[in-house]
Amino acid sequence: MKSPIKGFSKLTQQGKIEWLVNEVFDGDQSVINTLKSYLHQDEKVQKLHNEFIENTITNYYLPLGVAPNFLIDGKLHTLPMAIEESSVVAAAAKAAQFWLKRGGFKTTIVGTEKIGHVHFMYRGDGNKLKAFFEENKNHLKDATDDITANMQARGGGITAISLVDKTSDMADYYQLDVRFQTCDSMGANFINSCLERLAETLTQTIESDNRFTQTEKQVQIVMRILSNYTPNCLVRAEVRCPIEDLSEEEGVSPHEFAEKFYRAVRIAEIEPYRATTHNKGIFNGIDAVVIATGNDFRAVEAAGHTHASKSGQYRSLTHCEIENGIFRFWIETPMAVGVVGGLTGLHPMVKLAHRMLGNPSAPELMGIIAASGLAQNFAALRALVTSGIQKGHMKMHLLNILNQLEATEEEKQLFVNYFKDKVVSHNAVVRKFCEMRDIPYSSMVKK
Ligand code: HMG
Repeated sequence: MKSPIKGFSKLTQQGKIEWLVNEVFDGDQSVINTLKSYLHQDEKVQKLHNEFIENTITNYYLPLGVAPNFLIDGKLHTLPMAIEESSVVAAAAKAAQFWLKRGGFKTTIVGTEKIGHVHFMYRGDGNKLKAFFEENKNHLKDATDDITANMQARGGGITAISLVDKTSDMADYYQLDVRFQTCDSMGANFINSCLERLAETLTQTIESDNRFTQTEKQVQIVMRILSNYTPNCLVRAEVRCPIEDLSEEEGVSPHEFAEKFYRAVRIAEIEPYRATTHNKGIFNGIDAVVIATGNDFRAVEAAGHTHASKSGQYRSLTHCEIENGIFRFWIETPMAVGVVGGLTGLHPMVKLAHRMLGNPSAPELMGIIAASGLAQNFAALRALVTSGIQKGHMKMHLLNILNQLEATEEEKQLFVNYFKDKVVSHNAVVRKFCEMRDIPYSSMVKK
C-alpha cells in the first residue's frame, strides 16, 4: 500500500475497488475481473450481500455440501455444511451412515439460558449497594418492559437479575448478572439492548437515592454486554451400541476398536495438545452447520473452548464409556444458536439450509449441530485408530492437488483410478503427474 486513506468507507463499491487495485495491487487490472467474477448475477441478491458487512468489494464463496442419513432423535436429516476443507463432509456422511443402522443420535437440551452483564465500578459501602439492589431489582427489570414485551409474549425475556460483588478480584468492581430466555433467536442484540437499559436505570436510580453519598453516586458503567460463554445453554448428543455391533474396521476387531477408540478419547481428556486437535475436528462438523444455518461460529467456538477448559485444563468436548458391553460416545457443549433474526431470514442459502432441516426450532438446531460435531469426531477417531487419517483425508484431497497442478478433466479421471488402491500424498501425486506429462520433477518443486 502506498499511502493511508481517509474516507474509504464513503467511496462507492467501484471506487473502493479502484483504490484497492491502484494502491494495493500496483494497478493490476486483472484483479477487477477476478473480483467481478464472484459477484452475483442477480443484482438484488448482490445488494443483500453488499449490505451484510461493510466495505464489500465482492463475495467470498465457501462450498455448500450436504451430509445425508443423519438419524437424530428418530428424524432423518440431511445436514447442510459450508466448509472449505476436504473430507469433512464425507466423514460426517460416513459416520451418519454408520450410526443410522445403530439407532442414530439422541440429543438432550440441558438448558437454553443466555447470560449478559453490566460491569460497573462503585466506590462505597457494599452493603448499602446490596440493600439498594434488593429493593430495586423489580424496578430495574420493569424498566426494560418495552424492550422485552415481544419476547415475553413468546415465553422468554429476563428470567433473573443478581448483583455480583467482584471486589475481591478487582477493587470497586460489581456486576449485574442478567439471565435471559431468547426463544428461537440467538438473542445477542436483544440481550445487549436490555443491558444498556438496565445500566442506564441503575445509574439514574442510584443518582436519585439520597442514601448514597456523592462519591457513591458516581457509578461508572464500564461495559454492558452479553457473555458468549453460555454454560446453561447446553446440548448433549450421544450414540451407543453393543460392542459387537461396531463393525470390523481395517482388520481391527470391534472389541479392539472400542478399546482403542476409548483410549483415544481419554487421551484427549487428559492431554491439552491432543484435546486441541480433537476439538478442532469436532468444530469441523459444528462450524460447517453453524455457518450454513447463518449462525455465529465465533460465538459457538468461543463458548465451546471455554466449556472445554471449565476444569482449569483444556479437555475434550466428547467422552466415551464402555460399560456392560455397551459402547457409548457423547458430546456436551454450549450451543447458542438461533433460527430467527440475523442472517436467517435474509441469506438465500441460509433460508434453504433451514428448510433442508425442516425449519427446526432453536433447541432442535442445537441438537442437530451437536450431532454433526459428534459424527465428525467419530469419523476422525475411527480413521485415527485404524488406517490413520491420511488415507481417507488425502483421497478426498486428491482433486485439490490436481487442480493446483492444473490437470485436465481427463487427467483427473486417470489419477482417481490410479490412486484408488494407493495412499495419496502430495509428493506421490506430483511425481506421477510429472511422469505422465513427461516433465522433470525438479521443475515442479518450489525453490
Ligand atoms: P471410505 O471408507 O474410503 O469411503 O472413507 P467409501 O468410499 O467407502 O464411502 C463410504 C461413505 O463415506 C459414503 O457412503 C459416504 O457417506 C462417505 P455412500 O455415499 O457411498 O453411500 N463418502 C463420501 N461422501 C461424499 N463424497 C465423497 C465420499 N467418499 C466417502 N467423495 C472417508 C473415506 C474420508 C469418509 C473416511 O476415511 C473418513 O471418515 N476419514 C476421516 C476424515 C476426517 O476426519 N476429515 C476431517 C479433516 S482432518 C482434520 O482436520 C481433523 C483431525 O485432525 C481431527 C483429529 O485429529 O481428531 C483428523
